[in-house]
Amino acid sequence: MTNQDIYYIDGEFVEASKAVIPVNDLALLRGYGVFDFLRTYGGKPFCVEEHLFRLKNSARLIGLPFPWTVDEVIEIVNQTLALNHHLESNIRIIVTGGPSDDFITPGSQPRLLVLVGELRHYPPEWYSRGVKVITVIGRRAIPGAKTINYLSALVSLEAAHGQGAVEAISIDRDGKVGEGQTSTVFAFIGDRMVTNEDGILPGVTRELILSLTEPEFAREIREITISELLQAEEIFMTASNKEVFPVVRVDDTVISDGKPGPRTRRVMELFRDYTARFALGGIN
Ligand SMILES: Cc1ncc(COP(=O)(O)O)c(C=O)c1O
Repeated sequence: MTNQDIYYIDGEFVEASKAVIPVNDLALLRGYGVFDFLRTYGGKPFCVEEHLFRLKNSARLIGLPFPWTVDEVIEIVNQTLALNHHLESNIRIIVTGGPSDDFITPGSQPRLLVLVGELRHYPPEWYSRGVKVITVIGRRAIPGAKTINYLSALVSLEAAHGQGAVEAISIDRDGKVGEGQTSTVFAFIGDRMVTNEDGILPGVTRELILSLTEPEFAREIREITISELLQAEEIFMTASNKEVFPVVRVDDTVISDGKPGPRTRRVMELFRDYTARFALGGIN
């Protein structure tokens, strides 16, 4: 009996230490591939269809074939989960560019990988006290696609960590707010909950938050400028693994009184109630 995680690698289930793909895969050679990332609640993959629709769309946006049905991939995800024994799991589904004869032209044999691991927990203070984020200039090349190329994200996150921050929000040259490196931005501005939609990854958590909060908060889907963000009453960010986390400082600017605001706390509560109900089987 092994203690290792079991991964699905291109048609086979293998122990993590034996999980390999050939070096002529365009994922390695050129960073050509897409992925999606989700977690379980109550051991069940959360919003799995939404994540797979986005994965398929990411592949389409970069011209990568996706020769599986969503149901086939869900089945593989469930089989991989069943071979592992974590209480709660992270699930990373990757489609690589596959082999290429000349090391640059895409072929027609993408590889599907499903990596399951124990759920990573974030520090409770992130949620009780809120976090600092920094801003960086830039936008991803194909924002609607979750590609495997996180080069600038890694550099930006390292810069954030060096400044005691946990995320970096990309701002474009016109001062328009984009997204975090691995999360979506929301702000309460006046009596509105505001979030942008152009030039960002369509966050699965973002979509869920918009629907859960619909009865309680008036919202505006529009661009946010950096000066609006710095003067916002409350800011929070969302991501599948980090859920909903309050932002109380952006660069050197303290947001409002520097504490998570009541509306953000309410959004966190709505999200937690929803995921708790999902875990107990009350929601499909
Ligand atoms: C660039 C980017 N934006 C937003 C998100 C949040 O998306 P989701 O809520 O679907 O996890 C992610 C997730 O990793 C991301 O990489």
